[in-house]
Amino acid sequence: MRIVMLGAPGAGKGTQAKKLIDEYGIPQISTGDILRQNIAQGTPLGKEAKGYMDKGELVPDKVVLGLVEDRLKQPDCQKGFILDGFPRNTAQAAALDEMLKGINMPLQLAISIDVPFEDLMKRLTGRRTCRSCGQMYNVYFSPSKTEGKCDKDGGELYQRDDDKEETIKKRLQVYESQTAPLIEYYSKKGIVRNIAGTGSISDIYGKVTAELAKLK
Ligand code: AP5
Ligand code: MG
Repeated sequence: MRIVMLGAPGAGKGTQAKKLIDEYGIPQISTGDILRQNIAQGTPLGKEAKGYMDKGELVPDKVVLGLVEDRLKQPDCQKGFILDGFPRNTAQAAALDEMLKGINMPLQLAISIDVPFEDLMKRLTGRRTCRSCGQMYNVYFSPSKTEGKCDKDGGELYQRDDDKEETIKKRLQVYESQTAPLIEYYSKKGIVRNIAGTGSISDIYGKVTAELAKLK
């Protein structure tokens, strides 16, 4: 299964992708997560990316394309993958098409999760993530049982550096101008499925898996 998750910051791409990993046995490729790992490890790539991410801007295509190309070559992607946060503009989408053509693994579906703008700010300012396992929580909608601690492994919960109100506004602008046009890009290829992203996480998951079930 080869899928792209589309949607604004806070739409729930990562939340849904993480649920799909277990059920379908395919990896989530989140360029945002890979970049944040590089920042945490202090790699040169992380140092380059941090300035853009802290401002809510896109990291240059050249950097991101290299990461994705390397990741797709890993053996665990042979059965399929869930791209989350990539592609992010039409240049990245065209480069992805070329990459996948080269390995004869074209995309099958682009799931577009649509959440009203006014809900996104609360989802993002309330998000907390486990530093060790990546599980996501939300202080307003789905808090952990013990404040600041992950229910799964007791790891420390942290708030992303770019989940500040000013940076969120910029990310949403960047989404509207650069990423939202991808819905049209994939519509033209006939592979977009639009899913309303309000409601419970499990309701939305049900709608996502219903679309995936239609794939052969
Ligand atoms: P990235 O990490 O991709 O962030 P994003 O696109 O801004 O999206 P988010 O991760 O914020 O949202 P999400 O849709 O995954 O929502 P989540 O599931 O967490 O990118 C960050 C930065 O990295 C970019 O700004 C850019 O600088 C750089 N970058 C990354 N990829 C790049 C690329 N390809 N090219 C260039 N630059 C790139 O959910 C959010 C919250 O809502 C959570 O708290 C969750 O619990 C909650 N929630 C989820 N679903 C629901 C629900 N149904 N009801 C209530 N709450 C919910
Ligand atoms: Mg995410």
